[in-house]
Amino acid sequence: MLIDSHCHLNFDQFATDRAEVLERAKANGITTLINPSVDLADSRRVVALAEEIPNLYAAIGIHPNSADSFDEDTLTALRTLADHAKVVSIGEIGLDYYWDKVTPPIQRHAFEQQLKLATELHLPIIIHQRDAAEDTMAVLRAWVANTKNNSDDTPNLPRLVLHSFSGDVAMAEEAIELGFYIGISGPITFKNSRHLPDVVAAVPLNRLMVETDAPFLSPHPFRGKRNEPARVKLVAEKIATLKEMPLNELSQKLTKNTVDFFNLEFGTASHPKRVTGLLSTRQKI
Ligand code: NI
Repeated sequence: MLIDSHCHLNFDQFATDRAEVLERAKANGITTLINPSVDLADSRRVVALAEEIPNLYAAIGIHPNSADSFDEDTLTALRTLADHAKVVSIGEIGLDYYWDKVTPPIQRHAFEQQLKLATELHLPIIIHQRDAAEDTMAVLRAWVANTKNNSDDTPNLPRLVLHSFSGDVAMAEEAIELGFYIGISGPITFKNSRHLPDVVAAVPLNRLMVETDAPFLSPHPFRGKRNEPARVKLVAEKIATLKEMPLNELSQKLTKNTVDFFNLEFGTASHPKRVTGLLSTRQKI
């Protein structure tokens, strides 16, 4: 039993065989899927798909590569959409300097505004960063400090995951220190997995989650092919080897981490647990 904590099942790559893809996921013990969004239209599509598929949950948000579409109206629309009972997270948000599409200040503005929104709604956050590790950590460090300063006693920080982690051990250690989770995807299975085996060794088991980022980042031996949620099992198998523990035991722990992270109700996976304090505002479906 595993949860794919990050896949884009709504993307066109799955338009013709989504049902089969879901069947294969189920046959491989993948009980639950979290589907993040990249812009506002995508967020609406993901929520619509979550209404159709009982074990699929939505994360809504504006990806840094779409940050030039972000304005006050977007924020209002996201706030409204977040009321939906199957919206469990804000994401994926962050910084991406690999694709030269949107200037860093515009990316940063959308990122910070959505961090604020997630804090206000107390929804867990999915972070995307590519070639922007330093700036991403700087924004997150400031966000943690400000949120802690603004709360009276117990800091009210939502949970946060650095999805498809690609940084080094020092970055992972700082992320753990700040209270974050680390999402591990297909590249851990690659021959040139760089820092990732050391990262997995350094990160405590209770802060790890697994994901596919399907249709991207297919693990070995499917590298370069369309990825799908069933293959999150290959990621978990590699981590089990690195952590020197049985796959079953590891899977249970990863599932528990993910259920806790997204406030999913253990066992049923059909209704998210209501976030404390937001019971009255989050509608049932
Ligand atoms: Ni993604």
